[in-house]
Amino acid sequence: MECRSNKELKKFVREAKKCAKYGKVADYIPALGKANPNDLSIAIRYPDGKCVSAGDIDRKITLQSISKVISLALVLMDRGTDEVFRKVGMEPTGDPFNSIAKLETMAPAKPLNPMINAGALVVTHMIEGSNVEARLQRLLSFIRKLANNPEITMNSQVANSEFESAQLNRALCYFLKQHKVIDEDVEQLIDLYTKQCAIEMNCLELARVGMIFAMNGIDPDSGEQIIPEQLARICKTFMVTCGMYNASGEFAIKIGIPAKSGVSGGIMGAVPQKFGIGIFGPALDEKGNSIAGIKLLELLSETYQLTMF
Ligand code: DON
Repeated sequence: MECRSNKELKKFVREAKKCAKYGKVADYIPALGKANPNDLSIAIRYPDGKCVSAGDIDRKITLQSISKVISLALVLMDRGTDEVFRKVGMEPTGDPFNSIAKLETMAPAKPLNPMINAGALVVTHMIEGSNVEARLQRLLSFIRKLANNPEITMNSQVANSEFESAQLNRALCYFLKQHKVIDEDVEQLIDLYTKQCAIEMNCLELARVGMIFAMNGIDPDSGEQIIPEQLARICKTFMVTCGMYNASGEFAIKIGIPAKSGVSGGIMGAVPQKFGIGIFGPALDEKGNSIAGIKLLELLSETYQLTMF
């Protein structure tokens, strides 16, 4: 798919890049620590096939937490809303993405939403299949369809690196297992979850996935309803209320579009009925969101009045 480099977007990227120096690349997953904090790229994909970009949009990035919206869509399709929301809630936390605090104070123990790590681990637990490989392949084939690239795969170096260092996520799993929210082997779930987070794509593909959410689950290229409309709406609502973690409120006020970030520095945006956005800028703010990526979205939202509110 061709994506033209755009002068105006380049100008916004130059401007937004200035704040990258105030951010820091995630290094709690050692393999992510190698990213260049000054990188910043963006692709915007429209339903009519048009695509505009700035920066190195061929660079692949791992989805990390962006994968949480996609696994949620898949699991909602497989199991229905009743089963999913029996195990995970619908409310924002106001806490960091990896916090364990609310899990302990909630009775019965149930993660507050599927975007924080505790909730995402429960969602990943619900991906169907007889073993980790089959479940990963199920998720991958869904993602390949959304991104329209049959070659999308996961980065095993990043997956291994997170597997070796994911002690906090293991702690969340053991807590959830003790309270019978999950019932699988913790190492097996961490294996699948770290592989899910290490699925990689470029900004253009990320923008295409964002576009499908923007279009309420329809792939405008084929006309196929890939995600049922009602479920795509649920995913987008979580992106607004919890997609940027404990920065979601400020993000909704300043930018006002459904978006999901990942600690690799990716942001996937879905401007309802208009277009999808894929951004990569690995320098993160203190809440784990791409600092230059947010600035870039702020500039775009101000200039083109993208807010949905
Ligand atoms: O579980 C983790 O910590 C990572 N694999 C994903 C976290 C993440 O991307 C949070 N995003 N801002």
